[in-house]
Amino acid sequence: MCGIVGAIAERNVSAILIEGLKRLEYRGYDSAGVAIYSQDGGLRRSRRIGKVAALEQALAEEPLAGRLGIAHTRWATHGVPSEANAHPHFSGSDLAVVHNGIIENHEQLREQLKALGYVFSSETDTETIVHLLHHKLQGLPELADALKAAVKELHGAYGLAVISAAQPDRILAARSGSPLVIGLGLGENFLASDPLALRQVTDRFVYLEEGDIAEIRQASLQIWDAEGRSVQRETVQFHEGAEAAEKGEYRHFMLKEIHEQPKVVQRTLEGRLGSDHALVQAFGPQAAELFARVRNVQIVACGTSYHAGMVARYWLEELTGIPCQVEVASEFRYRKVAVQPDSLFVTISQSGETADTLAALRNAKSAGYLASLAICNVGTSSLVRESDLTLLTQAGPEIGVASTKAFTTQLVGLLLLTLSLGRVRGTLATDVEAKLVEALRHLPGNLEEALAMDKTVERISVLFADKHHTLFLGRGAQYPVAMEGALKLKEISYIHAEAYPAGELKHGPLALVDSNMPVVTVAPNNELLEKLKSNLQEVRARGGELIVFADRTAAMDNGPGVHVVNMPPIHDLLAPILYTIPLQLLSYHVAVLKGTDVDQPRNLAKSVTVE
Ligand code: G6P
Repeated sequence: MCGIVGAIAERNVSAILIEGLKRLEYRGYDSAGVAIYSQDGGLRRSRRIGKVAALEQALAEEPLAGRLGIAHTRWATHGVPSEANAHPHFSGSDLAVVHNGIIENHEQLREQLKALGYVFSSETDTETIVHLLHHKLQGLPELADALKAAVKELHGAYGLAVISAAQPDRILAARSGSPLVIGLGLGENFLASDPLALRQVTDRFVYLEEGDIAEIRQASLQIWDAEGRSVQRETVQFHEGAEAAEKGEYRHFMLKEIHEQPKVVQRTLEGRLGSDHALVQAFGPQAAELFARVRNVQIVACGTSYHAGMVARYWLEELTGIPCQVEVASEFRYRKVAVQPDSLFVTISQSGETADTLAALRNAKSAGYLASLAICNVGTSSLVRESDLTLLTQAGPEIGVASTKAFTTQLVGLLLLTLSLGRVRGTLATDVEAKLVEALRHLPGNLEEALAMDKTVERISVLFADKHHTLFLGRGAQYPVAMEGALKLKEISYIHAEAYPAGELKHGPLALVDSNMPVVTVAPNNELLEKLKSNLQEVRARGGELIVFADRTAAMDNGPGVHVVNMPPIHDLLAPILYTIPLQLLSYHVAVLKGTDVDQPRNLAKSVTVE
């Protein structure tokens, strides 16, 4: 999704802006651009379709230098990816804007502005902002005043940054629906849509709140809230290493993040387990009192986070007896929902900025839920700030567009939720809880064991390189794991992959099975194993090639067309977390074999902040 970087300094900001854009590349984009003000040349810009490297090359050939600038990576929504549609957008030659989000009334604004004589040079909604601002500047010459007036006419979502050749000592910024953060330097200041973009220049950040407008100068910062009152926002100091944005010894961020899982799962558990139980307070001071009233759970999320919710349903109903519904946010938000009494509304999100999940939460607020809980990886995100209770996963920044460590840490968070609800409601036997807590302590070690199978999984990936379709099967809580496995494979290798509950095989997908369609199965040693084995016979009988990730105590044998990968034994309730690992590795290796862009797969974005 789109990214913003801005800088005002004593030095040339060109390299800072490009480095910032590179650090945002993980979000997915299709074009990039920069505008820089220099005293002799005024405002100048450079824009390129494709990677930031293409923009960097253009700047090497025709440098732009100056102490004030804004830059952007665009992910096309209104208008195709093209140089003309790439940001920054200009009004005349003196005013430049970059924008994340969507202006819903852009058509109406475009007509009004055209009637005023403005000529549009792009198909974007963003260009209406810059002309509107230009128009406001005629009556309100201070940039901040004009921006305050202009945003009143914008409907939709925006995080935006403005520079003007007439007032070249400042960057103006406005936030409504799309995150923006100001980076504080010494005698220089910065702006970005994600602090990651600025970690090379500062570790001190000020987050803008909804409705804020900021005037950023070299040595000062002024912020007004939605009511126009001058406000101070807290400065947050980042401590975790800037190296989070580096690949280190790994070839791709995705591989690095897969291998980080034992560590981040450990971190997610830290401080949240007592000797034989989960700590309810981990969800906040009011959690115990609220959880005691919960009689129903509604989970809402998107993508991989939705799959984590699907697993949690099995846990919640089995261990707490509390009914649980799970729905994708884009459906939930537009549906008339019948809310059960005493329902806890749970959102799951890596970024905490996914537009559909946020909108669902906002709708839920007036729908009669008992309270809202966010399980999220970003503590400063909108989702966290707008929820009653929070559990932060400790996955650290996830750069690969395909989510890996965020998923497993979400599962850990959801299991902690299950244990806490069961404990407070008195529905979970203390010995069952103690056993699970013990198993959770061993989980990081189990994940290490699963990661040690990397070479075996890599060898198996060869079976997929020339295939166009695959089927993933699972039963019980392994069905959502199969869904997540199929999602990973399609996201990064572009092979069509479908997941089915194994018992449904004969109701349709069996018709597709032949030697060109590998079938991947996850088979922990539980009461569903025998049933799963007969499902696998059905596949073999049709000539389908089977790849089975099976508990080594399950006695499943290799044979013609059957490739068994032995997994370490694990507490059955933790199996979904463990069995996710080989499926992640499988997708990764297939994608590498196919030569796709693993970390930034085509057409996808890391954080989907628009509908
Ligand atoms: C995008 C990402 C997925 C992610 C989904 C939900 O589609 O590519 O990896 O699972 O958004 O994102 P969230 O940040 O809400 O978990």
